[in-house]
Amino acid sequence: MEKKFIPLSVPNFSGKEKEYVNEAVVSEWVSTGGSLVGEFEKKLAEYTGMPTAVACNSGTSGLHLAQMVAGVAPGDEVLAPALTFIAAVNPIRYVFAEPVFIGCDDTLCMDPDAAEAFLRDSCEMRDGKCYNKKTGKHVSAMVVVHVFGNMAAMERFVPMAKQYGLVLIEDATEALGTYYTEGELKGKMAGTIGDVGVYSFNGNKIVTTGAGGMLVSNHPDWAERARYLSTQAKDDLVQFYHGAVGYNYRLTNVQAAMGLAQMEQLEGFIAHKMELYEFYKNALDGKNGYRILPFRTDIRSNHWFFSLYLEDARHDRDTLIHKLSDEEKIQTRPVWALINEQKPYVDNEAHGMEKAEDYRAKIVNLPCSTNLSLEDAQRVVEALLAY
Ligand SMILES: Cc1ncc(COP(=O)(O)O)c(C=O)c1O
Repeated sequence: MEKKFIPLSVPNFSGKEKEYVNEAVVSEWVSTGGSLVGEFEKKLAEYTGMPTAVACNSGTSGLHLAQMVAGVAPGDEVLAPALTFIAAVNPIRYVFAEPVFIGCDDTLCMDPDAAEAFLRDSCEMRDGKCYNKKTGKHVSAMVVVHVFGNMAAMERFVPMAKQYGLVLIEDATEALGTYYTEGELKGKMAGTIGDVGVYSFNGNKIVTTGAGGMLVSNHPDWAERARYLSTQAKDDLVQFYHGAVGYNYRLTNVQAAMGLAQMEQLEGFIAHKMELYEFYKNALDGKNGYRILPFRTDIRSNHWFFSLYLEDARHDRDTLIHKLSDEEKIQTRPVWALINEQKPYVDNEAHGMEKAEDYRAKIVNLPCSTNLSLEDAQRVVEALLAY
């Protein structure tokens, strides 16, 4: 009998998605003008504890808006992680600035020690601004990514950004629902701690609208500026006056309908992800040369993606991935190729890459859909233990 395909991560539409989308279609408000966009913004703001949220048509467009409202200027430099999806970094180029790459720590997020070492040893402060001694460029911001739903070391990055006069941009595209459970930042959600944060609702994210994103900011005027820029910078709804070069970046009403239904299930999705993660951890961690990488213990992580780490030289990452796919019909994937090694960025500075290179070589992401059954997860475990 043909084995059932187990995908890496697929959406879960077992709530009221069809009902709400149908209502949007029946109302004929299918584009950016409908009331559900505002409702979805309100729901997200309430969930994250922020005063407002700005719906965007992708996480990438949200990150572009974040760079703009943060005031990152042409010629500036911005600290950014090397181990992440490239959409966290490309928006730096969209505003004609350059990334300086920093490696990761054991959370897979940007290494605060390497970031601090670069700022302390390779930069100098003049008139409250930070300059790269080698290039003479103004280092104006840092982008931290909460990789796979873990939490970057915000307790370090917040004071660091303050000390060096940097704007702190959080790419929380993978971390909706992750928050601190201990320490000074207890209760604070990923994405709400820095100056501006962005979530994604792409098809593989914990909440999906097909494509979509949301921007939040601790500066109310930045959020309003982002909303203005996302809607073609319209000054007037009747006469077509525009006070800036704007973008068509707003989410549609149909997508917001899906988002509202998905938000109703978010905590249930997280609970199931946590159950799956514990299942893999009990079955695989410390066995057959495998480790299941941990999430921080001082947070409630949304457990978005699970990382199997091949600590034993007998496993070759790509052979394992192909065997699982060809023989077992199980989809897995390697972690991203490092961004500083990719064609558009090979000439950019990179610091503290050792761990990022090791994790890049040895991580395999396991199936983690919110509708993956424990029986299917057991099939994944058995296939892995057989190699
Ligand atoms: C770390 C990271 N940044 C940015 C993005 C871009 O989000 P989107 O696909 O919604 O544009 C994603 C996801 O795709 C991501 O994983």
